[in-house]
Amino acid sequence: MELPFAEPFRIKTVETIRRSTREERERAIAAARYNLFNLRSEEVFVDLLTDSGTGAMSSAQWAEMMLGDESYAGASSYYKLKEAVKEVMGFDHFLPAHQGRAAENVLMSALIGPGSEGRGKLVPGNSHFDTTKGHIEGRGARAVDCTVDAAFDPTVDLPFKGDVDLAKLGKVLGERGRGEIPLCIVTVTCNSSGGQPVSMANIRGVSELCRAAGVPFFLDAARFAENAYFIRKREPGYDGKGIREIAREMFSYADGCTMSSKKDGIVNIGGLICFRDEALFRRASSFNIMYEGFNTYGGMAGRDLGALSVGLREATELPYLEARIAQVARLGAKLELYGVPVLRPYGGHAIFVDAKRFLPRVPREEFVAQTLGIEAYVEGGLRGVEIGALMADRDPDSRENRYPELELLRLAVPRRTYTDNHMDYAAAVMGSVLERRDRITRGYRIVREAPLLRHFTVELEPAGA
Ligand code: F0G
Repeated sequence: MELPFAEPFRIKTVETIRRSTREERERAIAAARYNLFNLRSEEVFVDLLTDSGTGAMSSAQWAEMMLGDESYAGASSYYKLKEAVKEVMGFDHFLPAHQGRAAENVLMSALIGPGSEGRGKLVPGNSHFDTTKGHIEGRGARAVDCTVDAAFDPTVDLPFKGDVDLAKLGKVLGERGRGEIPLCIVTVTCNSSGGQPVSMANIRGVSELCRAAGVPFFLDAARFAENAYFIRKREPGYDGKGIREIAREMFSYADGCTMSSKKDGIVNIGGLICFRDEALFRRASSFNIMYEGFNTYGGMAGRDLGALSVGLREATELPYLEARIAQVARLGAKLELYGVPVLRPYGGHAIFVDAKRFLPRVPREEFVAQTLGIEAYVEGGLRGVEIGALMADRDPDSRENRYPELELLRLAVPRRTYTDNHMDYAAAVMGSVLERRDRITRGYRIVREAPLLRHFTVELEPAGA
């Protein structure tokens, strides 16, 4: 008999979470102005808002925290991280930053400029993450989404829906000169298109096109280990290869990367910028010192650098990744048992609920995915996050609302944090909302919003009221 699979870890410390009543949750979400980011964590039972910085560190990581060297310059924790970056990602030059968006700020400052030098410039890629887009558009440039069309069809089951459409990219690169395209950035796995992986062949293809056009090619490597796992599982020729070997090959095609290490670094805070070219590394260093800190700490405490050096290695262990991806898939399968429409195939870090199919009666102007997120919270204290019209924000030129093809409620699974019972609970909450979906016909309208990245702070009210 084949023995069942089980997590390659056991639990040493637990944190109590509390179930609230429906009345408490109705009060809490109204007080939060119907913005899930405004809820206090004590008001949430199962928190699938994000997999970012919410994972559980290992005892080896905690031990490294105690060894943290807090020297301003040349800390031993920095050198431990440098070694891990070289071993896992293959880059000689790197800068620590306090998180992913800080890494983006430094890289974009070096490649586009620190002010609004980006006007008229384009940054192609596969569905840029919202902060990446923020750093591009905040500089006056435009993020051009060249993701394959299949990514926008939630029902097609293809292995690499994070891929860049090379014809679309080629067109952008062909129409504009090298001076007008400061970089191309490919996100692995592609969070905004459902946590979908990018194939090795596609990374190689993007690399060749960029090289020919003289455009620097960077990876957004927040979830590079999960991407490597999917390549091993799904791409011919990679079965049986080591995760680190696959990861290093992915990175070998790029000129560098940014990384939010709060994801596949399994730490609570931190980020990285890696470079192949020493001259670019030196240019970015000046910005890093200005915005983040001296090059050997870059906005991180020594203990956090140390924990990250261990986390990068743990995240690229096959048994860990098998457990991780299986837990996310369990959530997806349970949701489908209840009849909840979800994006296929399941993502690496999250299940994306197709809110348009779930709540067909709510008009798109009333924020369908946000409406579903609010219902899930009120139903069972489950918190997800909207990836829809609120996050898509307004067009920077026309200021009109942008309505993306997909309205998604993302249920992101923190690493090594919840049990399978929590996954089953979350699925049951969604199943329970589904039972009464015919009565959900109205959504929300905006009362207040910020000019950029509005979804974090937006205030809403029920549209029917
Ligand atoms: N790139 C990707 C692909 C991300 O998913 C994120 C963050 C960032 C960059 C920015 O990194 O948060 O460390 O500044 N994603 C989180 C999420 C917030 O919930 O998906 P950060």
